[in-house]
Amino acid sequence: MKLYEKLAAVLREHIKQGLFQPGDKLPSVRQLSAQHEVSISTVQEAYRQLEMENLVEARAKSGYFATAQTPPYKLPQMSRPPQRPLDVSQWQEVLYLLLSTDTIGTIQLQHAMPIMDAPSLKPLLKKITELHKHQSALSLPYGDIRGALVLREQISRLALESGCHLHPDDIIITSGCQEALSVCLRAVTEPGDIVAIESPSFYGSMQAIKGSNLKAMEIPTHPETGLSLQALELALDQWPIKAVLLTPTCNNPMGYTMPDAHKKRLYQLAQSYDIVIIEDDIYGDISYQYPRPRSIKSFDEDGRVLLCSSFSKTLAPGLRVGWIAPGRYRDKVTHNKYVSSSMCPTLPQLAIADFIKSGGYSRHVRRLRLEYKLGRDNLICALNKYFPADTCISFPTGGYLLWVELPAQVDAVKVAQQSRENGVNIAAGPIFSATGKYRHCMRLNFSEQSALIREEGIRQLASLISTARSL
Ligand SMILES: Cc1ncc(COP(=O)(O)O)c(C=O)c1O
Repeated sequence: MKLYEKLAAVLREHIKQGLFQPGDKLPSVRQLSAQHEVSISTVQEAYRQLEMENLVEARAKSGYFATAQTPPYKLPQMSRPPQRPLDVSQWQEVLYLLLSTDTIGTIQLQHAMPIMDAPSLKPLLKKITELHKHQSALSLPYGDIRGALVLREQISRLALESGCHLHPDDIIITSGCQEALSVCLRAVTEPGDIVAIESPSFYGSMQAIKGSNLKAMEIPTHPETGLSLQALELALDQWPIKAVLLTPTCNNPMGYTMPDAHKKRLYQLAQSYDIVIIEDDIYGDISYQYPRPRSIKSFDEDGRVLLCSSFSKTLAPGLRVGWIAPGRYRDKVTHNKYVSSSMCPTLPQLAIADFIKSGGYSRHVRRLRLEYKLGRDNLICALNKYFPADTCISFPTGGYLLWVELPAQVDAVKVAQQSRENGVNIAAGPIFSATGKYRHCMRLNFSEQSALIREEGIRQLASLISTARSL
């Protein structure tokens, strides 16, 4: 056992025995270094290890604290969407968000964009340039329509961390996760079919449902445990639902992770009602928990789970590299993918494969995971400081998005319009519902820009909210 592991084990034991209660300040790095006669970097490494296990959290300029197990503020209630399948609307609103660019000086809280200027991403960029300059013969011809084998091999290695044993032949590379979701939906449904989704849900999956002429059945969703299995079972009894499409790990927009027991139970429900699960795992690798949570796919025994993901949230969305593990729908998914866009560009695939193989991906994700967690804590502090006391906030377990529920009389769409004029961009709630619900809600990101800039954005939003409330 290395020195830092020994020290981490001592601290872990102290926390587990209750010597440090959730929220208690832990000894400083210097104190521990002197007490245990180890170097400062050994203590820092030990704390980093405990941070990855979610036992300890670092607070800017204050040191380390035992992780608070429950959020120190009000969470949103279980959602209550309409209890019937409906057509998805909101395309104009989604288009407006997609087309809105951030000019210099804008405070950007609206898009789900990862940190892309981290030094740990540099080796990937270097590899892209190198391939572009010296190995174009590898990337110019047509390639395998399933994607580059070297990348599929690396993805099957990564999948082990979420409990999945996938053969490279069980993986199909796509142009991002958005294409993965549409290709899967078309493979398992016919126009007019019903797809169950979380509520609120990522607008891109709902627009994919609309694009395939399907109906969405929004299922009540809990801000900590995700899709209500009880509500889903009732819906399955009542409606001929074909598939469930969900983001159970580090959800967008709420940030929750469905507990393993719920994931397993959902899979069992899918078996007994003979439906399909389309699992969107795009944020799974940036869970604050280490090792990362299991996927529903890891419980799959009969190939009914289609796992979709991409490198858009862990590396960069402009690379457009995603993938599907389609289970028993492999042939249909391969055909749909071919019809949709033939093969994907090879160069980014080769560069990403190299980045994973050399250990760069794991290093990058390990670093950013901690930054995102700190970003969450800082944003929540700012929200607690400036937003009305009766605001409800979700408590993300990973990723860089959180959901805010304002007092019911506040129109977040109007607040978003006004704040845009003042240079603060947010995503208002209705696009996260099939039918424009959640007008008093907003999704905020905490990945781009600094905590100070974000705090300024929150201060400005709070002032608009307080005016909106008094009207
Ligand atoms: C939950 C979720 N799924 C899918 C996507 C689409 O990802 P990609 O950019 O890889 O197509 C996003 C992007 O915001 C997302 O948040």
